[in-house]
Amino acid sequence: MTDSSSSARVTRAVIIGTGHYLPERVVENAEFEKTIDTSDEWIRSRSGIERRHFAAEDETTSDLATHAAQAALRDAGIEANDIDAIVLATSTADLTFPSAATMVQARLGMERGFAFDVQAVCAGFIFALSNANALIVSGQARRVMVIGAETFSRIMDWSDRGTCVLFGDGAGAVILEAQPGTGETSDRGILATDLHSDGRFRDILYVDGGVSTQSTGFLRMQGREVFRHAVEKLASTAQASLEKAGMTADQVDWVVPHQANIRIISGTAKKLGLPMERVVVTVQDHGNTSAASIPLALSVGRARGQIKTGDVVVTEAIGGGLAWGSVLLRW
Ligand code: ACO
Repeated sequence: MTDSSSSARVTRAVIIGTGHYLPERVVENAEFEKTIDTSDEWIRSRSGIERRHFAAEDETTSDLATHAAQAALRDAGIEANDIDAIVLATSTADLTFPSAATMVQARLGMERGFAFDVQAVCAGFIFALSNANALIVSGQARRVMVIGAETFSRIMDWSDRGTCVLFGDGAGAVILEAQPGTGETSDRGILATDLHSDGRFRDILYVDGGVSTQSTGFLRMQGREVFRHAVEKLASTAQASLEKAGMTADQVDWVVPHQANIRIISGTAKKLGLPMERVVVTVQDHGNTSAASIPLALSVGRARGQIKTGDVVVTEAIGGGLAWGSVLLRW
C-alpha cells in the first residue's frame, strides 16, 4: 500500500471500551482494629486507603474478570466473538492451569481467537497492555481485551499488619482496536510503552509459596524498601515513555498510576512536575488491587468524566520482581 502524504501510515491500538467490577463486600479500615493492632488513622495517613472490597468465599478471580469484561463489551457496543484475543494480568488465578484468561473466554461465550495470562504482579496490566499493543501493531489481532483481575485477599497473612491492611480485590478491563494512524502524537491509541524488571530485588516483595515449592504461601513485603524504589522507578519509566513518543510531561492530561499508596502516587506526580488535579486516584476506595488497579482506575476515571476522548494518558506501575513500566496513550 502506498501513501502519498508525508506522514507514514501506522496501526494504532485504540481503547474503545472500559469496564470494571468490585466485589460486594466493602471492608472499612476500622474493621481491622478488631483483629490486629492498627488504626484507621495509621492506615489512612501511611497509605491513603480508607476501604477495600473483598471477594466472597465462592467468588474467584475469573468471576471478577468476567464481570469486568462484560461491562467493557457493553461499553464498546460489541460482542465477545468480535474479540480476537484476551490477555489477562493476574498473580491470583483460580487454578494453576488452565489460565484465567481461557476461563473468561468460555464464560463470555467466545468460541474463536486465543487467550492467555500474564504475570508481572502489580505491573501486570502494564505488561499485558504492552503485549496487546504488540499483537495489534504486528497484525496478529484486530481487537484485544486486556483484563487485570485479582483476589489478593487469598494471599494475605491476616496477622501481618504491615501488609494485610493494604490490599483489595477487583477487576478492570479495556478493549483495544486496531485503527489507522499517521505516526504522529496526535493519533489516538498507544503512543509508547516502556517495560523493565530486575530479579535481584526478589526478596523485598514476594509470596513465600507456590506450586513448585508445594505450598500456598502469603505475601511478604519490606514496605520501606519497596517505597524507596517505587517513586524513582515510576517517574523514570513515565519519562521514558514520554521521551520515546517525543512528548513532555506538560502535554499529559491524566496520570493513571498503579494505586498502591497515595504517598507513592503524589511523590511520582511531583517528580514528573504534574499537579494532583491531573492524577486519577482511587486508592482510598479500592486499596491496592495489584494488576487490577490501573484498569479499575481507567474505568472509574472515565465514569467520573475525568478522562475524555483525545486526552493524553500516562499509566505506570511497579510490583514484585521487581517489575515496572509505563504506557503512554491518547484516549
Ligand atoms: N498499623 C499500625 N502500625 C503499623 C502497621 C499498621 N497496619 N503496619 C506497620 N506498622 C508499624 C510498624 O510495625 C512500625 O513500627 P515500629 O517502628 O515499632 O517497628 C511502624 O509502623 C513504621 O513501619 P514502616 O514500615 O516503617 O512504616 P512506613 O511509614 O514505611 O509505612 C507502608 C508502611 C505503608 C507499608 C509503606 O512502607 C509503603 O507504602 N510502602 C510501599 C509498599 C507498597 O505500597 N507495596 C504495595 C505492593 S508494591 C506496589 O504495589 C508498589
